[in-house]
Amino acid sequence: MTEFAFESHDAPTVIRTKRDGGILSDAQIDWVMDGYTRGVVHDAQMSALLMAIFLKGMSTAEITRWTAAMVGSGVRFDFDDLRRDGTPLALVDKHSTGGVGDKITIPLVPVVMACGAAVPQAAGRGLGHTGGTLDKLESIEGFTAEISKAQIRQQLQDIGAAIFAAGDLAPADRKIYALRDVTATTESLPLIASSVMSKKLAEGARSLVLDSKVGRGAFLKTEAESRELARTMVDLGNAYGVPTRALLTDMNRPLGNTVGNAVEVAESLDVLAGGGPADVVELTLALAREMLDVAGVDGVDPAATLADGTAMDCFRALVSAQGGDLARPLPTAAHSETLTATHGGTMGDIDAMAVGLAVWRLGAGRSAPGARVQFGAGVRVHRRPGEPVAPGEALFTLYTDTPERFGGAVAELDGGFSVIAAGEPAPEVGPLIIDRITS
Ligand code: URA
Repeated sequence: MTEFAFESHDAPTVIRTKRDGGILSDAQIDWVMDGYTRGVVHDAQMSALLMAIFLKGMSTAEITRWTAAMVGSGVRFDFDDLRRDGTPLALVDKHSTGGVGDKITIPLVPVVMACGAAVPQAAGRGLGHTGGTLDKLESIEGFTAEISKAQIRQQLQDIGAAIFAAGDLAPADRKIYALRDVTATTESLPLIASSVMSKKLAEGARSLVLDSKVGRGAFLKTEAESRELARTMVDLGNAYGVPTRALLTDMNRPLGNTVGNAVEVAESLDVLAGGGPADVVELTLALAREMLDVAGVDGVDPAATLADGTAMDCFRALVSAQGGDLARPLPTAAHSETLTATHGGTMGDIDAMAVGLAVWRLGAGRSAPGARVQFGAGVRVHRRPGEPVAPGEALFTLYTDTPERFGGAVAELDGGFSVIAAGEPAPEVGPLIIDRITS
């Protein structure tokens, strides 16, 4: 016999409220989140609600409640009792709103570890045209992000960091995140703010730095939207008693010279070895300084940890604690194709969105929830905006295991860059770090 539980609300009414531009009540939000976590609200209904939120937005009160309901859908970690030499650990984290070539977590976490703070990081997988830290790190043979709370505690205590799949933290976000990825509902301020903050408020960090991306490769394109997103998240963090700051950073062009999974790990290793692209180093150090400051750790120079190899040692310790083997070669794709310059001149602007979509088409991201990503897929950028280009020179190399994907990827890149003829003005490249938002 089927049992029917009494439900205090119904999904069609909640969807209709938002579809028609109304404000969801606290009770509706609590019910829909709980119902979705329990499986009473179905994927199709949540998809419709997400699209209604995407189209109609949410008030600050709705975002706050939606975030609280997502936090409440799972457990909240608490590592406040951990001590090093009798002093509480400076538990601090950062999260980006999503970018192209945004591998910053990979060098940043070890830099911050090497400076004496501790990072409990719940990280995500690729979303839309943007890559995910977990997909990148899992390209290291043996690395696992599925670790227990006990292991996270132990790593924080022993080495000062853990990068893990959110698991029991904000499980509603995990389901909604996967649904957004395949329903074209990623680019929404309330959905990004609540997704980021639900994980960050649940993971046990005592302070937080956010990297709110601005520009073509960001989910929110304009500086005004990105600023509002940053402000919303900073307010949410502070309201929860987690001191939170944000940097607004440029995402008009890809970060660094590689976009994909394993290729971004390789570039991060270059940064940890004291080299790597200047923009990746600059953003890593800016975020590290912000994290150390908000966590109250002073008297240390993050740049020194890249120069003296201590950040690299920390990364090795982190990877090995999570089962990874950096001695094994990183995966490479079975096929590559190089786009060359038809004429000489100067590399013009490169559209991060075009590159992000090309990389996604090459197989580095997903088009169905839970699909496997290709670790070797990606794009290497050979010439950065403003650099000289000779006729026939390599501009981009594309990598994939499935060569039938090259056509779609090249079509995405087409129009996403230009080579400016000699005598024409070089592209203007604005600052990488646009602004800083504090409480
Ligand atoms: N990162 C997240 O965790 N969620 C988003 O929606 C975007 C970036």
